Amino acid sequence: MMRLFGNNNEQLPERRDTVSGFFKSFRKTVHGSRAVRRGRRLGRTTRIKFSCLFLTLTTSFLLYLAVFGLKVNFHGKIGNSISVTEVQGEHLTSRDQKPPTNKHHRKQHLPCDVEFAESVTYLVEPEGFMNVAQFSLEFVETEERQSETDLYKPRFGGHQTLEEREKSFYATNQKLHCGFVKGPPGYPSTGFDLDEKDNAYMKICKVAVSSCIFGSSDFLRRPTSKQISEYSKKNVCFVMFVDEQTLSKLSAEGNTPDDKGYIGMWKIVVVRNLPYKDMRRTGKVPKFLSHRLFPSARYSIWLDSKMRLQIDPMLIIEYFLWRKKSEYAISNHYDRHCVWEEVQQNKRLNKYNHTAIDEQFAFYQSDGLVKFDPLNPNTPLPSYVPEGSFIVRAHTPMSNLFSCLWFNEVDRFTSRDQLSFAYTYLKLWRTNQDVPFNLNMFKDCERRSLAKLFRHRPFPPPNID
Ligand SMILES: *[C@@H]1O[C@H](CO)[C@@H](O)[C@H](O)[C@H]1NC(C)=O
Repeated sequence: MMRLFGNNNEQLPERRDTVSGFFKSFRKTVHGSRAVRRGRRLGRTTRIKFSCLFLTLTTSFLLYLAVFGLKVNFHGKIGNSISVTEVQGEHLTSRDQKPPTNKHHRKQHLPCDVEFAESVTYLVEPEGFMNVAQFSLEFVETEERQSETDLYKPRFGGHQTLEEREKSFYATNQKLHCGFVKGPPGYPSTGFDLDEKDNAYMKICKVAVSSCIFGSSDFLRRPTSKQISEYSKKNVCFVMFVDEQTLSKLSAEGNTPDDKGYIGMWKIVVVRNLPYKDMRRTGKVPKFLSHRLFPSARYSIWLDSKMRLQIDPMLIIEYFLWRKKSEYAISNHYDRHCVWEEVQQNKRLNKYNHTAIDEQFAFYQSDGLVKFDPLNPNTPLPSYVPEGSFIVRAHTPMSNLFSCLWFNEVDRFTSRDQLSFAYTYLKLWRTNQDVPFNLNMFKDCERRSLAKLFRHRPFPPPNID
């Protein structure tokens, strides 16, 4: 039986034979020789310079095409015969953006080749892959009221003090806030209520692919069925979290879950009593807290609802985690690498209350956040701004800790998670110099080859920030 780490120390029920035999059924070694491993730091600067030059050239060319109104369809062979068409620049796809008004928004970003393994049949988890930093995390389940007189109101994220926050960054046995905090008995639910049956289903998933649509902000994109192996169809949980509003909208459009609650490959899980008024903040719950929602899962993949998955999840795990010896994989931003730029951009596009952004940013600067310096070989990340629409993770203690910490930032400050990513990573890194956290920040073009990108629904729901 598989060993599990870092969760709630629960003994796992083995209810499905397919599940218990999960990793054993992978056969011996994968194309190990095909794995191209490059030093992450070595040559990064050169690569950045080159990619800048390349980007500039490509962009100019595409701008030229765009200006002259040519419709371009890219038929690229990606990896193993996955054909990608109609790749759109993400400037065009963002839900909360005004329609493109100038050349800048016409920038196109293309996918690049990713050498996925040929098939899932021969995949096997590398020996000792989970032999990483071991410690045990527990999560705050309920909070007491401090006194009879205070204006206590239970909240999903709890009431973590700054002192508790400081301690939570230590990679050691600890109990920390990580969402799903309940109030004392008698208080109303703090939200993210799920059916018992759904909870039972999620509890036994060993590998989970999940996504969410809250507030009807998007259409439902089914994974490209022919690219998903029979193996994964049988053994991987594909869960789409929706609220009731989205469910009725989907139903009205003819997308009704079948008797077992599926629409295509997606198991539709209805979330009642959303914990935040801000739908985007609510979306961060399934995005960051997959280790809480799928407590037995060894691996999980997060996918924004604007993306249609078109690669088998096991191939994704093999490539981004196993082959790179990584516990957590996220892509860097296609445009921006410095949090300073990200702050500017968030304000320019009015993504969030400016005062709240300033407060968060000032806090981070006072706690050591510095500008991204691509020329400094000691810079611990290839970029300080992620493109977080796609995250692959092994549920190791360090990865789970990072997920909780990042979630807590989004709960405490703004819901713009690109603003807190680097701060959280760097603080975790400098607090635990002797504990490695193997984070693979991969190129955005690789993310683009995994999934087809779409625009969000054209008419966004009212923004409640
Ligand atoms: C913006 O954020 C600040 C600081 O968090 C808050 O005091 C203010 O009420 C917010 N403004 C709006 C319009 O929500």
